[in-house]
Amino acid sequence: MKKNKRKKVVVSTPGKLMLFGEHAVLYNRPCLVCALNQRLFVEAEKISEDEILISAPDLKILDFSISLVDLDKEQPKEVRFVLEAIKNFFQTYKVSSGLKIKTESQFSAEYGFGSSSAVTVCIIKTLSELFQIEMKKKEIFDLAYQTVLDIQGIGSGFDIAAAIYGGVIYFLTGGKIIEPLEVKDIPLIVGYTGIKASTSEIVKQVKKEMERAPRYYQNLYNQIAKIVEKAKIEMENSNWPAVGKLMNENQEILRKFRAPSIEYGVSSEIIEKLIEASLKAGAYGAKLSGAGVGDCIIALGENREGIEKAIQETSGAPVSVEIDYQGLKIESF
Ligand code: MEV
Repeated sequence: MKKNKRKKVVVSTPGKLMLFGEHAVLYNRPCLVCALNQRLFVEAEKISEDEILISAPDLKILDFSISLVDLDKEQPKEVRFVLEAIKNFFQTYKVSSGLKIKTESQFSAEYGFGSSSAVTVCIIKTLSELFQIEMKKKEIFDLAYQTVLDIQGIGSGFDIAAAIYGGVIYFLTGGKIIEPLEVKDIPLIVGYTGIKASTSEIVKQVKKEMERAPRYYQNLYNQIAKIVEKAKIEMENSNWPAVGKLMNENQEILRKFRAPSIEYGVSSEIIEKLIEASLKAGAYGAKLSGAGVGDCIIALGENREGIEKAIQETSGAPVSVEIDYQGLKIESF
């Protein structure tokens, strides 16, 4: 059957949250992650001019344009992931075209829901549709991961896996394992600290500290890995009180990191306050999610309203989300 020539396509991916195993996953330990029902959309269209035009109103970019011959040059921060993904796709598949790209997100880039990885995945998928090049999920993962590493130098790729596969995933660094789990109806509550954390900064600080005390950190990572294995089983059993307890244990280890701060490790005062408020309001457990210092905390509990109120009263902002089970999706073409 002859395929239709596609000129324009819209795809979307979910945001993500780390449930267990942050930081340790960068050092070859597993983690547990989930995709969220707040999505990022990319519309891409081939154009006849030798240019890439980008409009990303959420990032306050209305009419960015760059000539195809300049794709190799250093790019502004806001459009780096889009352009690097395009460049990598063109190089890998030996294709090229002018493009008009529009991005739109249902979630704020401040939350740490993974907008950079989501946009990278979307761009690769839109291009595979526009150029009619069939890509398996793992091939999209590998190209998106390469793109993120080109820009950031470090990252486990868990956020890319969540954007592509959706649901709840057991993940090992670099996509060595991407195992979708049968987990439903997690009583998950999310609270934004009001502070945008710089993942790469925090990861760098931890790495530096780790080089000074390798045994200390390897021990912490091993403890986290054990918690991840237990949490995987308890989540598959929907044993939420047990999962909550494991969240508290994971948080306790994250406090023992000696960077960025001696007092809180990769946690922080505001994270601790939101966790304490959630636990007081009846959560089974709570922890930071992601690199730490800011971004969001997650809590597990049946009393969603009470826990969200407690987060609000402690100067956090509850973010109402559910788990997304669709992952990367074509919206229209
Ligand atoms: C950041 O969201 C989680 C880290 O483990 C980094 C990563 O896995 O890429 C700190």
